[in-house]
Amino acid sequence: MIKYLGSKRALLDPIAAAVRALLPEGGHVCDLFSGTARVGHALKGAGFQVWSNDHNAYAHALATAYVQVDRDVWADRAEAVLADLSATPPAAGWFTKAFCEDARYFTPENGARIDAMRDRIEVMGLEPELKAIALVSLMEAADRVDSTAGLQMAYMKSWAARALKPLELRMPALQPAVAAGPCRATRADALETAAAFDGDLVYLDPPYNQHSYLGNYHVWESLILWDRPETYGIANKRIDVKTRKSAFNSRPGIGPALQAVIEAIRAPNLIVSFNDEGYLSREQLVEMLSARGHVQVVEIPRPRYVGARIGIHNPKGEKVGAVGRLRNVEYLFVVTERPAALAA
Ligand SMILES: C[S@@+](CC[C@H](N)C(=O)[O-])C[C@H]1O[C@@H](n2cnc3c(N)ncnc32)[C@H](O)[C@@H]1O
Repeated sequence: MIKYLGSKRALLDPIAAAVRALLPEGGHVCDLFSGTARVGHALKGAGFQVWSNDHNAYAHALATAYVQVDRDVWADRAEAVLADLSATPPAAGWFTKAFCEDARYFTPENGARIDAMRDRIEVMGLEPELKAIALVSLMEAADRVDSTAGLQMAYMKSWAARALKPLELRMPALQPAVAAGPCRATRADALETAAAFDGDLVYLDPPYNQHSYLGNYHVWESLILWDRPETYGIANKRIDVKTRKSAFNSRPGIGPALQAVIEAIRAPNLIVSFNDEGYLSREQLVEMLSARGHVQVVEIPRPRYVGARIGIHNPKGEKVGAVGRLRNVEYLFVVTERPAALAA
């Protein structure tokens, strides 16, 4: 899966354990802020019926491939599509100009492969599931040969070693169908999906600070939408990064936005991920969630992201700042509805 800020890769076991403890018989769960879709992927793998939602198009492609797609139905056709794409001759175009020449996220050789394969996907007339598998395979292949530190707000001054390798498609790890029912992926605002979901448990992993996911992963958004947008700045971000904002990226906005989502949820169980470096404190979250029922807080200490561990460097590569905090705490707020007799 792609490198992603705030990805819950390292927390899948405690999240899945918390879901299993609340729903020992299985059930229908919804991930409102799905990002890489790895949480939904793991829960589908554990037999749950999953609905994954995110408001960005690249995340919707990931959720379609990793959650909505049933391997048994699509894998063989997907193999044929990936073989066709892998045989497509490179041809530089908009992507190469924007992200390999004007900016330098990928080598021009890999840019020409990406351009050709992405153009080919567009004209193949694929069903949404097959198209999502092809797009995710291409996005993940591009991620393996990028020249960034994991965020698309800057690229390396000299090529990262991995960027010099040729881009190669691989089949995403698709999940088989689950007996609990069909799984789905949507691209909508979390509030809309919260109100529409009528199942057993909602998992919420919202952004927790000012860093916009669209701004940090704009190359993926342009690759998936393939709309050749106007771009700006050295990072060559798509112009709509300036206008497509999330309330969760604003200090005054996140509290009311989260409150509204929590109030819209009808499911009896909630699990919320947050950490000790976000705009909302543990105490604020407990207070907000207590209105829904009993709140248990699980604390998971984690090493911080690589930048904090390496320290701050000037453009010549000299260390100019102190190494920051080395650990943070990831919280899981596990909320269960109080039985009616106990409700205050
Ligand atoms: C912390 S990340 C989720 C990471 C995910 N759990 C994973 O493991 O990859 C937060 C996600 O919320 C999405 N997001 C932000 N605001 C949103 C909104 N209002 N509605 C839906 N999704 C939103 C972002 O696109 C981002 O993917």
